[in-house]
Amino acid sequence: MAELKLSESRDLTRIERIGAHSHIRGLGLDSALEPRQVSEGMVGQAAARKAAGVILQMIKEGKIAGRAVLLAGQPGTGKTAIAMGMAKSLGLETPFAMLAGSELFSLEMSKTEALMQAFRKAIGVRIKEETEVIEGEVVEIQIDRPAVSGAASKTGKLTLKTTEMETVYDLGAKMIEALGKEKVQSGDVVAIDKASGKITKLGRSFSRSRDYDAMGPQTKFVQCPDGELQKRKEVVHCVTLHEIDVINSRTQGFLALFTGDTGEIRAEVREQIDTKVAEWREEGKAEMIPGVLFIDEVHMLDIECFSFLNRALENEMAPILVVATNRGITTIRGTNYKSPHGIPIDLLDRLLIITTQPYTEDEIRKILDIRCQEEDVEMSEEAKCLLTKIGVETSLRYAIHLITAAALACLKRKGKTVEMEDINRVYHLFLDVKRSTQYLIEFQNQYINETGDGDEDDANTMVS
Ligand SMILES: Nc1ncnc2c1ncn2[C@@H]1O[C@H](COP(=O)(O)OP(=O)(O)O)[C@@H](O)[C@H]1O
Ligand SMILES: [Mg+2]
Repeated sequence: MAELKLSESRDLTRIERIGAHSHIRGLGLDSALEPRQVSEGMVGQAAARKAAGVILQMIKEGKIAGRAVLLAGQPGTGKTAIAMGMAKSLGLETPFAMLAGSELFSLEMSKTEALMQAFRKAIGVRIKEETEVIEGEVVEIQIDRPAVSGAASKTGKLTLKTTEMETVYDLGAKMIEALGKEKVQSGDVVAIDKASGKITKLGRSFSRSRDYDAMGPQTKFVQCPDGELQKRKEVVHCVTLHEIDVINSRTQGFLALFTGDTGEIRAEVREQIDTKVAEWREEGKAEMIPGVLFIDEVHMLDIECFSFLNRALENEMAPILVVATNRGITTIRGTNYKSPHGIPIDLLDRLLIITTQPYTEDEIRKILDIRCQEEDVEMSEEAKCLLTKIGVETSLRYAIHLITAAALACLKRKGKTVEMEDINRVYHLFLDVKRSTQYLIEFQNQYINETGDGDEDDANTMVS
């Protein structure tokens, strides 16, 4: 591995899923980190949001590594929402990796390898590269057709100009193909990366603006570049250590980044990459960006995972670890010991703990309001009142789920606005936990029941 491969990951787009938290666009804090009552999709939970904001500030300054935060609170109090809010406010450059505790046990790799990959997904590297580019307006493209078809590969000439000079370049078959693919024609302003031969169309030259009618409204007009045709440019790539790992691991291609099917990555590969990155840092070519690793439902981890986390946090390149749980005092997986939140004391000791509180009726109402907007559902005032009542009596999540269901019920009766009758209908169609439990108790003997002492974990969920 003489040269680390980077270019392939440049154009990777991160895939975002729309779902329960798509209405969250940030933490909703002002510049003094004070939470606004309703902002960026966030409602209430002021203390926790402010605390998350302080952590975020520390991350943005980029000076600290290896800190860990625990979000603790009852189910449905916005722990995951706050973590998503943090992710949204981080900006594109700072990586945010997310993992549910249980995922570690379902991948085709060891738990610690999965954790290692998650850690490296949360560490970004900004790499500065100087490249030579040729930037100019296309004067003419001339392609010579070979006399005997297929006898020799195509050749041609490309004339480029700036406001000050004009040069003719020889074209090989590869460049001719690339120009054709980009549909480059005279009058276009292009940039050509000298090393890779990659062609980027920057726009149409202003001098051709009279062709506007022929080009259509999407055309972007730009100035003809001035100065030399050949320029040095500094380009910055932001990638994560995990992306570099995958691209450079010989058994997996970079395509594994899309499928997620990366398998285990050998320790030597990682070592080499760490050495190389350290070299780049020394030469001032690269900068580390510790991001955030969020592990939801952290009580699902077992003692081996916790011990791995403890050690990984000691690393100078460690990201900020944010974990969340709704468990009270419960058994640490893989042991017979009980501990607060199911987390061993030595890890617990490193954590800054942020607690979330149950919502008031008014807050529930506002969250439901936001969700209605997010889901494009029109709802009458009375229906919203009823849904809020249901949210208070059952749970916020249940009430949120009813929005979609009620909107479907409304659609079915060809209504435009969700009314009380729709809410009422789906409330009776779908049980919440309380009613479902009641039902189970009534008809207990018709179900298959486990004998023995059952799952004692449930008794320890932080439900009031
Ligand atoms: N403060 C809040 N503002 C807006 N939406 C919230 C807030 N708290 C929770 N939600 C939404 O309520 C639902 C349940 O919250 P969630 O974060 O999943 O709870 P937890 O992770 O604590 O169990 C989610 O759809 C979440 O986006
Ligand atoms: Mg959650």
